[in-house]
Amino acid sequence: MLKSCRLCPHYTYIVAVLSAALFLIAGCIRPDSSTLPPALAPVQAGTADIFALNQRLGRGVNLGNALEANYEGEWGLVLQEAYFQLIAEAGFTSIRVPIRWSAHADAQPPYAIEEKFLQRIDWVIEQALANNLLVVINMHHYDEIMQDPDAHRARFLGIWQALAAHFQAQPPEVLFELLNEPNTNLLPYRWNALVKEAIATIRATNPTRALIIGPTGWNNVNDLVNLELPAEDRNLIVTFHLYEPFRFTHQGAEWVAGSDPWLGTTWEGSTAEQRQLLTLFDKATTWAEKRQRPLFLGEFGAYSKADLPSRVRWTAFVARTAEERGISWAYWEFGAGFGVYDRSRQAWNEELLRALIPE
Ligand code: BGC
Repeated sequence: MLKSCRLCPHYTYIVAVLSAALFLIAGCIRPDSSTLPPALAPVQAGTADIFALNQRLGRGVNLGNALEANYEGEWGLVLQEAYFQLIAEAGFTSIRVPIRWSAHADAQPPYAIEEKFLQRIDWVIEQALANNLLVVINMHHYDEIMQDPDAHRARFLGIWQALAAHFQAQPPEVLFELLNEPNTNLLPYRWNALVKEAIATIRATNPTRALIIGPTGWNNVNDLVNLELPAEDRNLIVTFHLYEPFRFTHQGAEWVAGSDPWLGTTWEGSTAEQRQLLTLFDKATTWAEKRQRPLFLGEFGAYSKADLPSRVRWTAFVARTAEERGISWAYWEFGAGFGVYDRSRQAWNEELLRALIPE
């Protein structure tokens, strides 16, 4: 999959900084809190809970390359019961489960989902909860909606209606993530409208379920300024992904055209390299603090073709920086090309694991 759009520069932060300044000035000369916009309104019921729940998400790992393939096993990975215990014992507190629902749902209304596949996801949830892991149920690789959002709007909502009904009795430790990395034609104005409709659909059966939602541009930090969420719904966690510098994290990635010349790119952790990442974190936290939304870094990782010492430095830097800012995270991913677990040796990649979870 081509993800080079993550490289595109954005200058919207200038606008954001200016509007933030105007906003603060306006706030100062307008002391009556009842007139403040929702972003600065007093903390509402449920807010503390969602921040607490986000802290419990804590340190997570993506169970990638299994359920977001067209069928589990197509990409060589089938989830095993033992993985859940391994993950919990290693010190992770949550898992994010990428799932290609669109490959298991009817094309026509009411977009019924294959019963067997639903049972498989029930099993994943059961295993996670049995090991005290919080679990994020994600909608992944719905590629068709990125190409033609209007044609897939009803199906997207229909699938969420069915999922929400199916999982409504699950405990709060089960979180729903609306859609992985909206991109291409799913532009901000379309995505914001869809988010609103999807939240309303899910809230009919899951009034307080924690929902995870990210910006367009492949969940790009720079697109947060375009993300609009219903201000009154305080049970939302905002997600973003971090793969910068892309030439380092995606060097030699088979799904990124032109990434072979990037092979050999290292990450030394120099001041300039750190600053590049800190700038992105600053944008995310500035956005979130202003709106009182908890943040979840739902994906970050460096492909195995990068040298291990660089991967370890980068991974540790990103994870610690997130934690210092109260941002929960999920490493991309468990046991495939970015894997923190080496399935062939049936052992953790100890250095990467320590980068994520220091002893
Ligand atoms: C995609 C994976 C990809 C990873 C890193 C994920 O969102 O689903 O296919 O390997 O990002 O590019």
